[in-house]
Amino acid sequence: MRLIFLGPPGAGKGTQAEFICRDFNIKQLSTGDLLRYHRKEGTELGKKAQEFMDKGELVPDSLIIDMIRSELKKPEYQNGYLLDGFPRTIAQAEAFDKLINELGQTLNAVLVLEVPTEELVTRLTARRTCRVCGKTYHLVYNPPKQEGICDVCGGELYQRSDDNEETVRNRLAVYEKQTKPLIEYYELKGLAYHIDGKGKIEDIYSRIKEILQNKT
Ligand code: AP5
Ligand code: MG
Repeated sequence: MRLIFLGPPGAGKGTQAEFICRDFNIKQLSTGDLLRYHRKEGTELGKKAQEFMDKGELVPDSLIIDMIRSELKKPEYQNGYLLDGFPRTIAQAEAFDKLINELGQTLNAVLVLEVPTEELVTRLTARRTCRVCGKTYHLVYNPPKQEGICDVCGGELYQRSDDNEETVRNRLAVYEKQTKPLIEYYELKGLAYHIDGKGKIEDIYSRIKEILQNKT
């Protein structure tokens, strides 16, 4: 199964991706996580991406498209994948259409996760992320068992540098302007499925699972 996860910053894409990939045996490809890995490793791509990410702006399309192109050719994506945070512009979506064609694959669905803006700010400003495995927590809604420590791998939890209120608001504005038009793009292809992203994490996953079970 090949899926795209579309939704504003803080909608819960990363949180839900974990369950989807576990149950449907596919691999998550988060462009944000991949870019943060490049930054940590100090690669050329990581250095170029840094200034955009810290301001909450999008990294240029050409860098992202090249990164996705080389990533999706790896064997671990052959059983299917969930794209989390890509595409984010019409140019990226068009480049992906071309790539998936070249790879001889088809896209099964685009999941559109919907959450009101003010809740997104609350979710993001109290998010904590594991430095080692990338799992996300929320200080109030989804706290780790032990403060500051990842439940899964024992890694240290940190606050992402773009999770302060000013940058969060800019990320939300960038989403409205550059990414939201993709919803219509995929609606016109008959691939978009809207999901109410409010409520308990497990209830949201039940809504997603119901859609995906009808796809397999
Ligand atoms: P990226 O890492 O993709 O960030 P994002 O899109 O802003 O999304 P987030 O990861 O912030 O949110 P999420 O939906 O995954 O939410 P989560 O599950 O963690 O991108 C970062 C940057 O990289 C971009 O700004 C850009 O610069 C660059 N970039 C990446 N991809 C790019 C691309 N394709 N093109 C160009 N640039 C690109 O949940 C959020 C919080 O809410 C957590 O604390 C969680 O515990 C909590 N939560 C989850 N569900 C619930 C719930 N139901 N109730 C209450 N709390 C909840
Ligand atoms: Mg994420």
